[in-house]
Amino acid sequence: MEKRIILRTVDLVKRFGGIVAVNRVSIKVPEKGIVLIIGPNGSGKSTLVNVITGVYKADEGKVYFLNKDITNKPPHEIYKLGIVRTFQIPQPLKKLTVLENLLIADADHPGENPIKAMFQRAWVKKEQELVERAFKILKFLKLDHLWDVEAYKLSGGQLKLLEVGRALMAKAKLIVMDEPIAGVNPALAHEIFQRLCEIREAFGVSFLLIEHRLDIALRYVDYVYAMAQGRVIAEGKPDEVVNNPAVIEAYIGG
Ligand SMILES: Nc1ncnc2c1ncn2[C@@H]1O[C@H](COP(=O)(O)OP(=O)(O)OP(=O)(O)O)[C@@H](O)[C@H]1O
Ligand SMILES: [Mg+2]
Repeated sequence: MEKRIILRTVDLVKRFGGIVAVNRVSIKVPEKGIVLIIGPNGSGKSTLVNVITGVYKADEGKVYFLNKDITNKPPHEIYKLGIVRTFQIPQPLKKLTVLENLLIADADHPGENPIKAMFQRAWVKKEQELVERAFKILKFLKLDHLWDVEAYKLSGGQLKLLEVGRALMAKAKLIVMDEPIAGVNPALAHEIFQRLCEIREAFGVSFLLIEHRLDIALRYVDYVYAMAQGRVIAEGKPDEVVNNPAVIEAYIGG
């Protein structure tokens, strides 16, 4: 059976002055899919995910999430709908423990609402549920033994998994990651990708990834889009795309 498409862009365009950073890009991410965007520096990969996640406004084209038009919605609305981009955990949050980092990532944290917080009993119950969910996620990421450790003490790879944990806590349906294994040693990088594959099964989430380290990333992804100069120049199974002459040319030329 054909998998349901959760994210679709149609002829998306983003210009910066005279530069067409994203030029009529149409991509699809299926449910529980792991889709990778590759391409040389400056080919428009980050700009594309910035438009999808609402950071930049599209000049033309559409973004559909679960068949709903989300084009140019503000980032917090897109986040609430379930497209969560992982960001490096900022310095102040690194002073918080692993568990605290998950708890504050919840999309509708009741502690933030003073009216709800007045209803103490409801609040405590919600907090308990949050802690349980956080532990379930931490166990899955094999970070549960570190729950009480400040985030700054984690290794680079563990921090990446914590970012994913925060996205899961926010009930992400699509997790978007820009260069998840940059600066991570090969063994850990493989482990991170293995973990992402397990997470998509266990939590039913999809991934849209950008990555330069193709030797590692290509083994784990289902589908690849190759970009060059703002356009998609090839798409398909990983081995098809990297052996496509236009893709090789783009990398050599770039
Ligand atoms: N905020 C911006 N203002 C002006 N130009 C920008 C901006 N962001 C990106 N660009 C330009 O848009 C083009 C695409 O950049 P983008 O960062 O999306 O590429 P990329 O594929 O993510 O590259 P890299 O692999 O180096 O991260 C480049 O020419 C870049 O200089
Ligand atoms: Mg980039």
